[in-house]
Amino acid sequence: MTDVDDRPILFFDSGVGGLSVLSEARRLLPQASNVYVADSAGFPYGTKSEAEIAARVPALLGRLAERYHPRLIVIACNTASTIALAAVRAALDLPIVGTVPAIKPAALISKTRVIGVLGTDATVRQPYVDRLAAEFAGDCLVLRHGSAELVDLAEAELHGQPTADDCYRAVLAGLFDQPGGDRLDVIVNACTHFPLVADRLAAVAPHAVRFVDGSAGIARRIATLTEGQGWPERPHGLAVFTRRDAAADALAPALSRFGLTAIESL
Ligand code: DGL
Repeated sequence: MTDVDDRPILFFDSGVGGLSVLSEARRLLPQASNVYVADSAGFPYGTKSEAEIAARVPALLGRLAERYHPRLIVIACNTASTIALAAVRAALDLPIVGTVPAIKPAALISKTRVIGVLGTDATVRQPYVDRLAAEFAGDCLVLRHGSAELVDLAEAELHGQPTADDCYRAVLAGLFDQPGGDRLDVIVNACTHFPLVADRLAAVAPHAVRFVDGSAGIARRIATLTEGQGWPERPHGLAVFTRRDAAADALAPALSRFGLTAIESL
């Protein structure tokens, strides 16, 4: 018999994007307690410099690890992962799972060999993305587009605010209007906010494309890393905001759909 183990899994993002990763993880591990942290005081990450992210994320995760004693941390944010994953792993004595653009699975399914990478401005300019493209999509044309607007659209959707098709169309034009864009057949949602609005994007794409992201792979990785561990008798879900304000509190109904039934601030 495995002992009861109350330690949660901690998911970390700048905002609500990491919920797309949490959602896949809950499918595989419904027995887990989860702490979901939104760094609302630091949001958005995508328009920040590398130095700002590299200074902020490891320090914050150190404080969070001390406070919540997680069994494992998932950096459910491509921007933070592509910039600070190595520094976080070096600083914390805990398994750390990162979220990096799903270029490898995209290259495996692309027939036209033209792939789009849709992320934040900070993510799409990272050398990490150059390396993924060279290693896994060497024979593909890899088009990139950074969009802060799409992050805001996903946040608005989660807040239950209406968003217009034209806004999504304008974001996609950033990829489809590039040379070769007419041959795109796979788009990597390389920001965890974007799978939350994948249906809206698919509905306005100028031709049929497939959208891929890393969340299912991350869920499998979490399951592997926690194999054989005990679980809480009564799993719970907690949302933590680094700045708690009316906007954070207004998210309560949306958060409860992801099993996060309590909210607190750091
Ligand atoms: N969700 C984050 C990502 O995966 C970033 C959103 C933002 O804060 O700009 O990149």
